[in-house]
Amino acid sequence: MRRSFLKKNLLFWGQGRGIRRKNSNRNPVYFEIRMNAIRKRQRLSVLIVLVCCLILINIVFLYKDNNVIPYSEFTYPVKMNFSENYKVFKTEGRQPAFNIINPHPFKYIHLRKKCKFKENGTPSLLILVKSTVNNFHLRDAARTTWGNSTGENIEIAFLLAHREAEQPEVDKEAALYGDIVQESFLDSYMNNTYKTIMGFNWAVQFCGQASHIVFVDDDHYLNIQNLLTFIETLNALNKGDLMIGNLLKHSIPYRSRFSRWSVSLQQYPFDRYPPYLAGAVYLVSRDTANKMVFAFPYVKYLGIDDAYLGIVARKVGIELQHEETFIIPPFLLYTDPSQVVYGEFKDVTDFEIVNRVLHRFAEVKMCIFTWKCQFSFLL
Ligand SMILES: *[C@@H]1O[C@H](CO)[C@@H](O)[C@H](O)[C@H]1NC(C)=O
Ligand SMILES: *[C@@H]1O[C@H](CO)[C@@H](O)[C@H](O)[C@H]1NC(C)=O
Ligand SMILES: *[C@@H]1O[C@H](CO)[C@@H](O)[C@H](O)[C@H]1NC(C)=O
Repeated sequence: MRRSFLKKNLLFWGQGRGIRRKNSNRNPVYFEIRMNAIRKRQRLSVLIVLVCCLILINIVFLYKDNNVIPYSEFTYPVKMNFSENYKVFKTEGRQPAFNIINPHPFKYIHLRKKCKFKENGTPSLLILVKSTVNNFHLRDAARTTWGNSTGENIEIAFLLAHREAEQPEVDKEAALYGDIVQESFLDSYMNNTYKTIMGFNWAVQFCGQASHIVFVDDDHYLNIQNLLTFIETLNALNKGDLMIGNLLKHSIPYRSRFSRWSVSLQQYPFDRYPPYLAGAVYLVSRDTANKMVFAFPYVKYLGIDDAYLGIVARKVGIELQHEETFIIPPFLLYTDPSQVVYGEFKDVTDFEIVNRVLHRFAEVKMCIFTWKCQFSFLL
């Protein structure tokens, strides 16, 4: 029955087109037949769309698995006493007697030169910008604005993974600016954690004097002055553990296969993540970075990098802290860049909110505008 219905429709469809070609639209009978066919087809389309929606809703929202383990029973491989093993490692240089379950077998393609901080008692800040290979324009925007903090005790590095097609351009960029840290793994969302681990590893090995490290995504605007002021209020020059940002306490893993952040039960079987700092920006101290780097090889990989850091921090015993200024209050966003530690820019339209006059500017110019804006507000 369905087939015949479709056939009829197809027939009309064909006829209709034939008719149109002969330009017989003015014949009211043919016109009425054609309109009927169109209406029928429309009804059928609506029905199909509705059914599809229902199926989707089912998959996305009602997907439930009985094998989910409550977070109260949280354990995560490897089971070992990290603080005890870290103490042994620090005093005797001995690695734990556990197998490495999160190997990091990647080679540096570009290695930024070592940091050179002044030992003058002020905080030494390393900025690590997690960047996607093809975001050349965003890196340029950062370099010419907030990332160009010459004169301050600040160093900046861009963290990149690898993509064959863009590599020649990255090579040029690295030669020109010398601020790129790149490893050989493929640049993809679920490899993000490798990028973050690379940043920690590089910072500890080549930038060990940094008292503080701030991680930031390449589509964000960091207000350095506010950040430095904030670090000073912490009154902690590399004194112990610090990991601070926008703390999420009750995050639930995405299970829908359509989500970018989807995680299977094999990867992570619990109904909640440990508390973790939301990805876009967070600040860590030197001691904390050292502990994290020690722990990474012994904590099972998870592609969601901010949640993964939360797991590692929990295992190592680092207490995460929440800081309001690391969140962008929606009402403040872009209206007064001096008030927030950072702001987000995804494309030109975002920046139009800053000033409607700046309609046709490219992203870099938008960023420069915010840069100038920041200083005019500070004056
Ligand atoms: C880990 O080892 C330390 C001693 O170094 C001990 O105080 C602590 O209770 C241990 N933690 C666990 C969870 O066993
Ligand atoms: C950074 O600032 C210095 C001093 O203001 C300037 O000479 C230099 O050109 C700037 N670098 C970039 C990449 O804009
Ligand atoms: C992560 O990088 C490795 C090494 O390049 C690659 O084999 C793997 O496919 C990547 N994973 C994803 C999810 O892209």
